[in-house]
Amino acid sequence: MCGIVGYIGENKARPVLMNGIRRLEYRGYDSAGISIINDNKMVSERSVGFVDELEKKLNGKFDKGTLGIVHTRWATHGAPTVENAHPHCDCTGNISIVHNGIIENYNYLKAKLEKEGHIFKSETDSEVIAHLIESYFEGELEDAVRRALREVDGAYGLAIISLDDPGKLIAARRGSPLIVGIGKGGHFITSDVAAILEYTKEVVYLDDNEIAVLTREKMETTDIDNVQISKSIDAVQWNLDKTEKGGYEHFMLKEIYEQPQSLRDAMLGRFEKDSNLVHLGGLKEKEDVLRDVRRIIIAACGTSWNAGLIGEYMIEEHLEIPVEVEYASEFRYRNPIIEEGTMVLVISQSGETADTLAAMQEAKKKGAVILSICNVVGSSIARESDCGIFLHAGPEIGVASTKAFTSQIAVLFILTFFLARVRGKKEVLSSDLINKLREIPGQVQQILDKKDQIIKIAQLYGDSNNFLYLGRGYNYPVALEGALKLKEISYIHAEGYPAAEMKHGPIALIDKNMPVVFIATTDRVYAKVLNNIEEVRTRGGKVIAIANEQNNEISEMVDHVLYVPETIDVLTPILSVIPLQLLAYHIAVMRGCDVDKPRNLAKSVTVE
Ligand code: AGP
Repeated sequence: MCGIVGYIGENKARPVLMNGIRRLEYRGYDSAGISIINDNKMVSERSVGFVDELEKKLNGKFDKGTLGIVHTRWATHGAPTVENAHPHCDCTGNISIVHNGIIENYNYLKAKLEKEGHIFKSETDSEVIAHLIESYFEGELEDAVRRALREVDGAYGLAIISLDDPGKLIAARRGSPLIVGIGKGGHFITSDVAAILEYTKEVVYLDDNEIAVLTREKMETTDIDNVQISKSIDAVQWNLDKTEKGGYEHFMLKEIYEQPQSLRDAMLGRFEKDSNLVHLGGLKEKEDVLRDVRRIIIAACGTSWNAGLIGEYMIEEHLEIPVEVEYASEFRYRNPIIEEGTMVLVISQSGETADTLAAMQEAKKKGAVILSICNVVGSSIARESDCGIFLHAGPEIGVASTKAFTSQIAVLFILTFFLARVRGKKEVLSSDLINKLREIPGQVQQILDKKDQIIKIAQLYGDSNNFLYLGRGYNYPVALEGALKLKEISYIHAEGYPAAEMKHGPIALIDKNMPVVFIATTDRVYAKVLNNIEEVRTRGGKVIAIANEQNNEISEMVDHVLYVPETIDVLTPILSVIPLQLLAYHIAVMRGCDVDKPRNLAKSVTVE
């Protein structure tokens, strides 16, 4: 879980690398470091903390070189210290590497290299790569890299430079994303395209076990056995302004406010004008397979898992296909039963979550057909699945997922429609339902326009130590998501529960200091939720309800009401989660928390 940028070209490397790595800080931010070949010397600087610390330490140094690598780290092996920060060098200091991923056999490799006389300076798994390359180096860097990587087990995205072969930047990928950028008079390497958009939109997505050799003039790609691979060049569709804050105080707030647009984008081009026909280009070739699916397993983590739960309710209700939702991290280590006709639906904003990727690979091995729902085009999950749907939500930079969640629900709804069409379930295909989806972006905007009320509630309850979130039916996953948002960015302990489960335990927690958020929209379980509200009120709990605008009775029963427009049950979560995102955001800001970079968390969890 880290960010990588590499550059070789006609321009000065330092500003290119530092600009790029700043855009990747959200991927890991406990330490950072840079190596540049400057004045015919390999020079490096590393620091603990944000990229600013590195910039301070650099203090204008290394301003001549035109080849370098930079890294921002989120610790896995070894504490966040200067010694453990990347880049790591070999014994001579002439080879420098930055690494994302985990080297699983590093203990074995380290012991072997130490026996050969190599001296290690860090506690990281990554450093073995620098020494291993050194041990094979005979004048050609890419050759040593290939030989070294044949010995490595585990995952890597690597950028490597050497003073002894100084006109090359090497990139290698297995299990950790890496992209080559093709610029004017130079080449880039990055683990996330946002880092290089300022310089180029022409990219090549490396696949697993590929190695790219970049010089100022050209790029060559081979596999680990030096067999040439021809790669296609893709054009990135995102603009740089999409990756910046656009005037908002935090990326998270910007992304919350982008939801009317991201939801429109999720629908764009997917419905035939004036009809209820759904088009999903990424599923076209698998229509026959999807027609015969008899069981669906949804595998995901975190917010994407919560969206998956909504997907389960949706698909079972409308298509009558049995669905199970699995934590990807559990699924991968069980012995999941995959029979003929099982489809595994993986959901991931980043498309790089290690547990989800591994669950997908396990399911694939067992013969399941894999459908992915991802936001990041070119991500590992998107590329390794049999078919898929993109969210088109644009980059999500805030660690707390917001717009991806609502787009995931919208896309699951569109998928339900699509499956209904290919499976001939005509009764589902009503234009009314699609029209309800079309209304959603405008309704989200209405909720966003009423933020003042939410800020007031944040002020009243921001000091609480605990929160309970309760909902039923489609709003139970929203309760989970509301609690997840609050805990991850404000560090308040928050639990999400199915409202009726409260009486089986959590009710013991209720007293005057316990704010309870009820999602009580007027759906088929509304009357039942009112009973649960009563149970909390009689025990002195403070109730904040999310209810529909037409609801005149609820304000009498609760302490505060946040109103959302009415829609059909299945789409309610997209609306009811918006006040909860804003509530979590404003509480976190009030408590002085770093909303976009919450402690201990990183945007995409590419380690187990
Ligand atoms: C969401 O706010 C979290 N930061 C986290 O739970 C996230 O949803 C999870 O790690 C899965 O990420 P993915 O969607 O990129 O796979």
